[in-house]
Amino acid sequence: MHPRCDETPQWALLQGHYQARGRVLDLRCAFAEDAARFAHFSQQAPHVFADLSKNLWDRQAEALLLDMARACRLEHSRDAMFAGQAVNSTEGRAALHTLLRRPRGLALPGDEPFVAQALQEVHATLDAMLAFAEAVRADAQITDIVNIGIGGSDLGPHMAVRALQAHQLPGRRFHFVSNIDGHELAGVLAGLRPESTLFIVASKTFTTLETMANARSALDWFAAQGGQDVARHFVALTANVAKAAEWGMSRTFGFWDWVGGRYSLWSAIGLPIAIAIGAAGFRDFLAGAHAMDEHFRSAPLAHNLPVRLALLDIWYRNFLGLPSRCIAPYHAWLQRLPAYLQQLEMESNGKRVDSQGRALPMATAPVIWGEPGSNGQHAFFQLLHQGPDVQALEIIAVRDSTHGLAGHHQMLLANALAQAQALMQGRASGCGHRHFPGNRPSSFVLLDALTPASLGAYLALQEHRVFCSGSLWGINSFDQWGVELGKQLAQDLQPRLRTGDVAGLDGSTAGLLQRLAGVGGRAP
Ligand code: F6P
Repeated sequence: MHPRCDETPQWALLQGHYQARGRVLDLRCAFAEDAARFAHFSQQAPHVFADLSKNLWDRQAEALLLDMARACRLEHSRDAMFAGQAVNSTEGRAALHTLLRRPRGLALPGDEPFVAQALQEVHATLDAMLAFAEAVRADAQITDIVNIGIGGSDLGPHMAVRALQAHQLPGRRFHFVSNIDGHELAGVLAGLRPESTLFIVASKTFTTLETMANARSALDWFAAQGGQDVARHFVALTANVAKAAEWGMSRTFGFWDWVGGRYSLWSAIGLPIAIAIGAAGFRDFLAGAHAMDEHFRSAPLAHNLPVRLALLDIWYRNFLGLPSRCIAPYHAWLQRLPAYLQQLEMESNGKRVDSQGRALPMATAPVIWGEPGSNGQHAFFQLLHQGPDVQALEIIAVRDSTHGLAGHHQMLLANALAQAQALMQGRASGCGHRHFPGNRPSSFVLLDALTPASLGAYLALQEHRVFCSGSLWGINSFDQWGVELGKQLAQDLQPRLRTGDVAGLDGSTAGLLQRLAGVGGRAP
C-alpha cells in the first residue's frame, strides 16, 4: 500500500509553503520577477501544448508537489495500471483502457498473464468493428445512426462525433439518445424512417434502466413502422453479449469488464465515432491516445503533463481550497466536452473514502462545469472575474479552423487570450463595480488542429490526470458505488407512482409523490 498524499512529509511542507508564499502569490509579480515563468510552466506533450504559468503556484510549490508524488509512489501506481494489475480494488479487476489503443505487436507493459490474450481479443474486435463501420458508411440506404446509451456509453461518443464533424462522412445524421425522458427519444424518432436507420444499443452491462427502456421503445417503434430485419437495423455494443442475445440482437461487438464505462469510447462503444470518421480516422484517434499513454509512461514526473495537471489540481483543491474547475472550450464543436469531463472526473474521484474504505481528511474531485468559452463569456464569466470565490479555469483552444469564414477564428482566439489575460491582470478602479481584482488563475491548453489524433491525445491526457490525482488521494478512481442507491430507490418508487402508496416514505417524498401519483397512466 502506498502512502496517501496527506500521509507524506511533503503535505505539512506544502501547508507551510501555502501559508508563507502561496496565499499571497501575485501572478503579476511572479511574471515580473521570473522571465522564464512561461517557459518553465508550459509544456508540449504529444499533440497537446499546455501553458500552466497563469496559475497560482510557484516553482517551490511544484517541486514539493513532485516530491509528494514520488513519496506516494505514483510511478509505481501508474505502472500497475498499465500492467493490468487489479487497480480497481473494490471490484477486483484491472483498468486497462490503455490496452484498447495499444498497437499490435508492441511489447506488453507488464507480465499479467491475461494481458497478451486480451490484446489479441482487442485487435480482433477492433478489426471486426471497423469493418462493420466501413460497411455502414458504404451503405447509402442508412442515413441516420441513433446511439442509445447513457453515461460512458453516450458521453464519449457523443462528444467525439460532434468534435470531429470536419472529418465526418457527409450525408449521415448522428443522434444520441440517453435520457429516459421520452421527449428525447420521441423527438428523434419523429424524424426517422426504419429502413434508413441504424440503432446502436450501447451498454456495458446491458441492464441499465434508461438504455433498456429506450431500446425497448425503439424496437417497438421499428415494428410499428413496419421495419423489417432487426438484425440489420439494430447492433449491440456490450460486455454482456449473452444479455444482448436475449434481446434478439444478433450483431454484437463486445468488450471486457476491465474497461470502465467512462473509459470505454476506445472500445466497441466507439462505433458511432468509427462510422462518422471511418476506420482510418478511428485508428488515428487510438494512435493519438497511445502517444499520450507513452508520454505518461515514460516522461519524468517533472515533464509529464498528466502528472503536472494532477499536481496543480491537488494544490488548488487541498491547499487553496478552490471548489470547482470551469472548462471553457474555445471551439463550438467541443460543446459536449464539459459534460464528458464531468463524468470522467466526478464519477472517478468524487469520493470520500480511500481505497481501503478509510474516511479521507481532505477534499477530492472539484465540481467540473462549463460551456464553450465564447458563450460562457456572456453568461458566467462575470463570476470568474468579479465573484468573491476564485475558481480554477481551463481554456481549450485550437490553432487552426476549418470553416473559412473571414475573421472569426482570430476573434475567437483573441477572446480566449483576452479572458485569461483579464483574469490575471485585473484592472484597478476606484469604483467597486468596475474594479477587476485580477490574480485569477487559468490554464491554457492548445491543440494545433481538432483532428482524431489530437482529440485522442487530449482525452487520454485527461484520463491520466484523473488517475494521478485519484492515486495521490488514495482513491480507487475506477468504481462508482455512489450511483447505486438512487437507482434502487427509483425501483421502489416507480410502482408507488401508479398506486399512490406513500407508506413508510419521508414527508417530502410522500408529499411530492401524492402530487405525481397516476402520472404514468395518463394518456399522451
Ligand atoms: O450509473 C453509472 C454508470 O454505471 C456509468 O458508470 C456508466 O457509464 C453508465 O452507468 C452506463 O452503464 P452501461 O454502459 O452499463 O449502460
